Amino acid sequence: MCGIIGYTGSKNITDVLLKGLARLEYRGYDSAGVAVLKNKGIDVVKKQGKLCILEDELKRSPITGTAGIGHTRWATHGVPNDANAHPHRDYKEDVAIAHNGIIENYRELKQTLEKKGYGFKSETDSEVIAQLISAEYKGDLRFAVMAAAKQLKGSFAIAAIHRKEPERIVGIRKDSPLIIGLGVNENFLASDIPAVLEHTKNVVYLENNETVDMNRDSCVVYNDKDEPIEKKATKIDWNISQAEKSGYKHFMLKEIFEQPEVLKNILKKRVKNSDIVFEELKIEEDKLKKIKNVAIIACGTAYHAGLIGKYLIEKNARTPVWVDTSSEFRYRDPLVDKNSLVIVISQSGETADTLAALREAKQKGAIVLAICNVAGSSIAREADGVIYTYAGPEIAVASTKAYTAQLGVLYLFAQYLAVLRGVSDIAGTKRFLQKLKEVPALADRLLKQYQANENRMQKYAAKFHKYYLASNNKSCFLYLGRNINYPNALEGALKLKEISYISAEGYPAGEMKHGPIALIDENPWVICIAVNGETYEKMLSNIQEIKARGGIIIAIISEGNNDVRGKEAEYVIEIPKTDEIFSPLLVTLPLQLLAYHVAAEFGYDIDQPRNLAKSVTVE
Ligand code: AGP
Repeated sequence: MCGIIGYTGSKNITDVLLKGLARLEYRGYDSAGVAVLKNKGIDVVKKQGKLCILEDELKRSPITGTAGIGHTRWATHGVPNDANAHPHRDYKEDVAIAHNGIIENYRELKQTLEKKGYGFKSETDSEVIAQLISAEYKGDLRFAVMAAAKQLKGSFAIAAIHRKEPERIVGIRKDSPLIIGLGVNENFLASDIPAVLEHTKNVVYLENNETVDMNRDSCVVYNDKDEPIEKKATKIDWNISQAEKSGYKHFMLKEIFEQPEVLKNILKKRVKNSDIVFEELKIEEDKLKKIKNVAIIACGTAYHAGLIGKYLIEKNARTPVWVDTSSEFRYRDPLVDKNSLVIVISQSGETADTLAALREAKQKGAIVLAICNVAGSSIAREADGVIYTYAGPEIAVASTKAYTAQLGVLYLFAQYLAVLRGVSDIAGTKRFLQKLKEVPALADRLLKQYQANENRMQKYAAKFHKYYLASNNKSCFLYLGRNINYPNALEGALKLKEISYISAEGYPAGEMKHGPIALIDENPWVICIAVNGETYEKMLSNIQEIKARGGIIIAIISEGNNDVRGKEAEYVIEIPKTDEIFSPLLVTLPLQLLAYHVAAEFGYDIDQPRNLAKSVTVE
């Protein structure tokens, strides 16, 4: 996702635009730019990298004007560089636009426009919008924007200006947010409230296919028939800090709640009818057909995603997979070669150990595929092929939506590989995708049930907190899972550790009697992932063994299962029913929420936990 801002008024344009973009950096920060209307022309300044680089450039060569637009980018098409940064112009330099979203038919539109002599300067989908508006312009910017938008497929929030129309900004949206800030002799357009909050608390939410036409003295909204419509203004009572988190207390909670949307977007982008498509993959299918083994290499949460990837690829594509942490892989002279596909998973794309592991794998002749969330990052650039997770910026150090996005890509890649290697077919893909497509709605329902009964999770956390203090801060948590949810036991323990600083250990439940059961007496708190599946009965036995030794069990169960409720399990957390293979995408949600509430009970800094960094760019 990206951040857009527009301003028309008498204040210093670049000052308003830059401060607005600073409030939107949480939406994307790999490049930024501004376009400012000044006597019959448009000045555009845009730079790769953090916003401060653009600020320095504008300090060196200030620009002034009557109205302007700004953009901070989270690259989807085209690596982060000056040319791909927004705002984009048409080839005649009459129009400038800022865009948030994905234009799915940009290739066809670009080819048509190039045939008409329109020259392009970037690799982005967004540049097509500026060219289309220019092509449709017959003296009225709103008419041209609406005519251009009708030709676009996909999602967009657009802010547009034209050099012949000083002070005027036109905005339109479909499936990407755009809000209006109403001022006195000034008006604003933005992707989100934080960008306008220091100037006005009166905002109007633009709905899909609505167009706003504004200058400093007027602001009118039109429907898709170009009829002016009445819109109610909302008075915002958030402060700036809350607004950046869209009203959530922490970025971590906001990102937990973004997960259904993230999964939905991945499926929307990557599933065309019953085909799974990875446009940016760039590894020949023939090479993937011939591989003999797969190694998945990553750190931390990404490593746990890789462990689930093993279950998926071995089950769907029947190809042997082993998983290793990057820091071990890079030093043990690993047995990978030209017959190996090495998948490196990294949210940031800058983790030093994973980058080193990538280089080691390439040096040994393996094919390297990166699953990454940051376009243009080192790992994304150095791999032979990349699949982006499109989770948007993840601000909280504790990874949540990036983990789910990595899993979403792994589900699709496992099935893609299965078809490629002849182990499955279109019919098998149809069945698989039908079930996978149900998950975002199930996740949404689960989160809504949590919201309706939030204090339940908070109560469990409070009970643990009380117990922990009474045990002189010694008790630790054991997380148990089996089969495809065993890696979720590791991930749940990591979430608790990294934001609550409590010792927690994830274990395959079948290993309990080989050691950990000796801990139960002083450490009775055990999270058991006991959803319906092949090894459910075995987990039930584990739960009984723990209970018999005084364990305090929080069981994650499938809806409607009453086997342990009010009996062995002190507390139960239900997840919607789904096939076991898809359950990790749901099980992870209560694990994240429990860690969040325990950390909240302890009063720790949830978004920036001590000693940790969002990206470990050193060994
Ligand atoms: C996860 O919550 C942690 N922040 C950490 O384990 C993280 O997953 C790990 O550092 C890997 O980061 P990457 O995905 O950016 O490579």
